[in-house]
Amino acid sequence: MRTQVGIIGAGPAGLLLSHLLHLRGITSVVLEKRSRDYVERRVRAGVLEQGTVDTLVEAGVGERLLREGLPHHGIELRYGGAGHRIAFEKLVPGRSITVYGQQEVVKDLIAARLAAGGDIRFEVEDVEAHSLESDPYLTFGGERLDCDVIAGCDGFHGVSRPAIPEGVLSVYERDYPFAWLGILARVAPSSEELIYTRTERGFALHSMRSPTVSRFYLQVPADARVEDWPDERIWAELKARLESVPGFTLTTGEIMEKGVTPMRAFVAEPMQYGRLYLAGDAAHIVPPTGAKGLNLAVADVRVLTEALAAYFADGSTGLLDGYSDACLKRVWRAQHFSWWMTTLLHTFEDEDPYARRLQLSYLDYVTSSEAAATTLAENYVGLP
Ligand code: PHB
Repeated sequence: MRTQVGIIGAGPAGLLLSHLLHLRGITSVVLEKRSRDYVERRVRAGVLEQGTVDTLVEAGVGERLLREGLPHHGIELRYGGAGHRIAFEKLVPGRSITVYGQQEVVKDLIAARLAAGGDIRFEVEDVEAHSLESDPYLTFGGERLDCDVIAGCDGFHGVSRPAIPEGVLSVYERDYPFAWLGILARVAPSSEELIYTRTERGFALHSMRSPTVSRFYLQVPADARVEDWPDERIWAELKARLESVPGFTLTTGEIMEKGVTPMRAFVAEPMQYGRLYLAGDAAHIVPPTGAKGLNLAVADVRVLTEALAAYFADGSTGLLDGYSDACLKRVWRAQHFSWWMTTLLHTFEDEDPYARRLQLSYLDYVTSSEAAATTLAENYVGLP
């Protein structure tokens, strides 16, 4: 079997890449170790930057997103007993974000690929990447797929990054001393906008998915387990943290899904080796506080598509050679923004009173200075 681009992973990065390549007349095969049902149900983040929405709409997979996605023109920062709105329409006019679950993006992309005759193999076993320097190929479940190029879109725990020989990659990482417990609940959002809350009990986030489904996160210890968090405990803690301004009541409901996400930052450089190109979480992870993960994956895929289109058009390798450098600028900006949002809003156990006062002072600055608020807004909606 032969294809032009062998893609490992049917998450947003792999599926979008396959679709954008198809629109340029480039063939690909997507290999995914999980089932279709699993990837379509995997609950992840849900904030899409304008550039991400534009990419999906231009690719012809934005119809449901435009219909069901929730446009947001601001977020609330809540701390010290008051809420403060970061008003995108004033600070970054014309730019906004759309709340639409990542697994909805995945469903739309799978449907579009299959409708166009795309080749996605689910539940493939033992995927391995070989001969990365030249004539690369993939093996899986006893089969062999020869390709011109391999795209590693298989996430942080995937097989593609470890296929790069030792000593090639520089790795930068940070583990935060806490995790996020995320829940999806069948209840109307208690707020029209996302609320990022800092309290002495820790951070909480109120997000949403639709007029009838809400999404919440709680800062929990790094070793927290879902079993430690029965529904009543989750609601009590969400109330304790979110009902920290007068007059705000959190409406509770049936919890449909629970999960614990470690808070981690990671970058592997360069994002390429030989004929293997990494995209999305395979190359970099951000803590979710800045809502950047999915958007970075989409940005990588945009760059990789242009580079591959040039390569398959006339054999030019300039853009492919510059792929990693082209992506890493945005990746590192997002790393800084995600680190900054995380340190601004979480409580750190080993923090001394001095550090705590600095944090509150910084929050006051961000919510009172237009310049500081613009920095937050500009990064949150996404740099062009
Ligand atoms: C989400 O809705 O899942 C979400 C929103 C904002 C974040 C992270 C996750 O910063």
